[in-house]
This record gives sequence, C-alpha cells and structure tokens, in this order.
Amino acid sequence: SAAEKDGHDWFMRKEIFEQPRAVADSLLGRHARNGLLQLDEMRLSDQELRDIDKIIIIACGTSFYAGLVAKYAIEHWTRVPVEVELASEFRYRDPILDYSTLVVAISQSGETADTLQAIRHARLQRSKVLAICNTNGSTIPRESDAVIYTHAGPEIGVASTKGFLTQLVACYLLALYLAQVKGTRYGDEISEIMRQLESIPDQIAAVLSRADEVYELARAHVDTRSVLFLGRHAGYPVALEGALKLKELAYIHAEGFAAGELKHGPIALVEEGLPVLCVVPPRGRDQLHEKMISGIQEVRARGARTICLAEEGDTSIEPYADHLIRLPRVPVLLQPLVAVVPLQLFACELATAMGHDVDQPRNLAKSVTVE
Ligand code: AGP
Repeated sequence: SAAEKDGHDWFMRKEIFEQPRAVADSLLGRHARNGLLQLDEMRLSDQELRDIDKIIIIACGTSFYAGLVAKYAIEHWTRVPVEVELASEFRYRDPILDYSTLVVAISQSGETADTLQAIRHARLQRSKVLAICNTNGSTIPRESDAVIYTHAGPEIGVASTKGFLTQLVACYLLALYLAQVKGTRYGDEISEIMRQLESIPDQIAAVLSRADEVYELARAHVDTRSVLFLGRHAGYPVALEGALKLKELAYIHAEGFAAGELKHGPIALVEEGLPVLCVVPPRGRDQLHEKMISGIQEVRARGARTICLAEEGDTSIEPYADHLIRLPRVPVLLQPLVAVVPLQLFACELATAMGHDVDQPRNLAKSVTVE
C-alpha cells in the first residue's frame, strides 16, 4: 500500500529517499569520543587483523560493485593488496588462500547462495571470513568469523539502493579500522575522513532535493535502446552500477566502462545520439579529471549525447556536457556515495515511464538462493 511506501509509488523510490538516514545509521556509534574508530561486532582481534597480508572480497551484482569501490579505499589507506572476485567464480579458480588472507563477503540479504558457497570454501582453506551484511542473523554472517552490519533497514525493492550505499559505508569503515590497527594512517587523518563521511547524509539529501531534474531527463529517454556509462577510479564501479540498474529495471541495453578503456574497443559502439552517462571525478592533483574530460570529448566528437555528473563549481566540463547533473564536492574515494544516487533515480523514473514494475522486475528475485 501507499502507506507502507511512505507515499511513494515504489519501495525502490522510498528506499532511495531513505539513503541519508541509512548512511547516517550505518555510521552511528563508530567514531568514539577519543577519536578512535570502533567496530563493536568485529570479533577479530587486533592481532588477527595485523596479520592479514591479503584481502579477497567476494560478492554478486551490486554488492560486487561495492567491493570494487572498497578495493580503492582499502589499498589506498592500508597498503594491503585487495582482490575483488565474483562469488560465483571464486571457488572454481582454485584461489590461493591461507590464515593470513581475509575474505570479505558482501551481501545485503546474507542468503545469496553463490556468496555462501564461496565463504564455505574460504573457511575450509583456513581463511578468516568477515561478512558485510544488512540482515541480522542471516546465513552468511552466521557462518562468518566476523561481521559488520549495515543499518539500511529492510530493503524490499529488488534493485539494491540503500543496501549499496550502506555497504560502501561499511567498506570505508573496515578500511579505516584496518588502517588504524595496522598504523598505516594516523588518527587525525582517520578522524578527518570520518568527518567527511558524517557529512555525506546531508550531501545525499542535497542530491535528492534535485530529483526532479533527473526525472525529467529520464522521461526524455523512454525510446532509448542503449545507454553507456563511463567512469574512472572509484567512479568506474559507479558506472557499472548505473548500467546494472538500467538493465534490471528498464530492460534496455546498458554497459559501464572504465573511460580509459574506450579507445581499446568500446568507442566503436558510439553512434549519433547515443546517450553516454559520465561520472566525472572531482578535480584534483592527479590527472583523473583531465583524462575523463578527454574521454568525454572523444565520444562526443562521434555523436554521443553526454550526460555528465560533475562536482559543483567544475566549469571545465560545461563545453562537453549536453546535460549536466551537479554533485556535491567530496573526495574522489567517497564520491560513489553521492554519484550513484542520480543514476538510481534515473533508472527508477525511466522504468516507471516505460510502464515496468520497478519493485518486481521480470526474471529477478530479491535474494538468489540457488547457485
Ligand atoms: C541489485 O540491484 C541486484 N538485484 C543484485 O545484483 C544483488 O545485488 C545481488 O543479487 C547480490 O545480493 P546480496 O547483496 O543480497 O548478496
């Protein structure tokens, strides 16, 4: 009923708008007054964490994309190498695992069969398994050595939204906690990043307050047959997630690419009028922003219509954007938390305009309990 959906037409839309709260709840109580980060349910000792010399993240679908973002954050802050692997592929490649490998399983439902089988395999090889999960007492955290619960509240829409954002939060917390325990980052820096994380709920609310612009754009795309998404660095998994949302909900062909990979093949797909959504990294000292702009110029020169998500104040993008969606200014590693929101709104509204059932897309189930 409409009441259950807080007056929204879909659970998905309700859940998109719950994201500021979900992110805030997932951060709650983690940052102690002494400046130290605490993860109460962690269950792995500091010594066990210090012994870890490799991390393998396993997950499916949207949770896998959260894992891809986590790789950037964990490697940058802790210098521990991270692999991210699709749970359904993990067991079959005979992965190299031992007691110093931490396997991180990310699952909103905690019941995904592919992920469950993967952690069972990892534990047989003596690896420690940490679950990042939204469902208390579900199978995956029960079979893991440790858990970080996300506090998104129940996610009903088949398409994951607040589940994804809170998984990102948990991944950042894990990365910072490891950095604290291993001493690869100092307390001041960790506190500063925590403060930036704590400001994210307001930034998401600001993005949501401009939902109408995104809706209008989405409705203008009802006849679109194909959409590309481009990103770089932490924006690359955002591009993949934006494309997955469109496939799931609007049933149109959508693909995400790392912008630097365009010239190695995908640019051949570009033709007159093709919509290309571009997640533009924040301006910074690295070359990411400039390189993204040159990728955008390349697709535009071949007739693409570019829809650019770029931070407030970035005027250099204006000549190359047929449409511009503004994002709050946040560091590149945290940008996925704000950049994915317009892509969720876009997919939800486009699917609605096409007359699809957004909460129950065809052929999909909320939790996939078969391998
Ligand atoms: C997301 O929109 C999907 N419906 C799907 O990819 C999902 O993220 C995947 O099945 C993993 O689910 P889990 O997080 O519950 O394990």
